[in-house]
Amino acid sequence: MHQKFEFQYQQFQESTALETTDQELLEAARKATENAYAPYSNFWVGAAARLSNNQIIIGANQESASYPVGVCAERALLNSVGSQFPKLSIISMAISYHPVGKDSKEPISPCGMCRQSLLDFENRYAAPIKIILAGLQGPVMIIDSASYLLPFGFDGKILK
Ligand code: THU
Repeated sequence: MHQKFEFQYQQFQESTALETTDQELLEAARKATENAYAPYSNFWVGAAARLSNNQIIIGANQESASYPVGVCAERALLNSVGSQFPKLSIISMAISYHPVGKDSKEPISPCGMCRQSLLDFENRYAAPIKIILAGLQGPVMIIDSASYLLPFGFDGKILK
């Protein structure tokens, strides 16, 4: 029998259409692109998470001379939150990017490894993470749970 997986997401023309708390988080992610260390790709990525106590924490991609060692903004942020605030869950995460010398007008979406880490975080706290995706300008996508981005993801239940 054929089965179907589908999910809904929201699309906004620009960030001013978002609710204030999401606008604030996206602005923090856009600003966080300035903290990227990306001398090899020149692709600066910024991420910002709103924690369950409403605090905003940021992350940015950190590249390595040994390329595969580099870490994306999303996982830099998740690992920092998990290390510094292990008792707090993440309510939402905004992700933006600044490709040096190029336009940043369309949303980007997290890589596969980051999707796994996001799913791990959702499962760890049994709380969905709202994902807000946008360039420095232009349309914004909102996805209500990171799990939608990783259908049939490995959640580790079988390891127990
Ligand atoms: N990158 C991120 O930080 N997040 C993404 O969602 C996509 C890619 C980084 C990894 C690398 O430093 C650079 O962007 C180019 O791939």
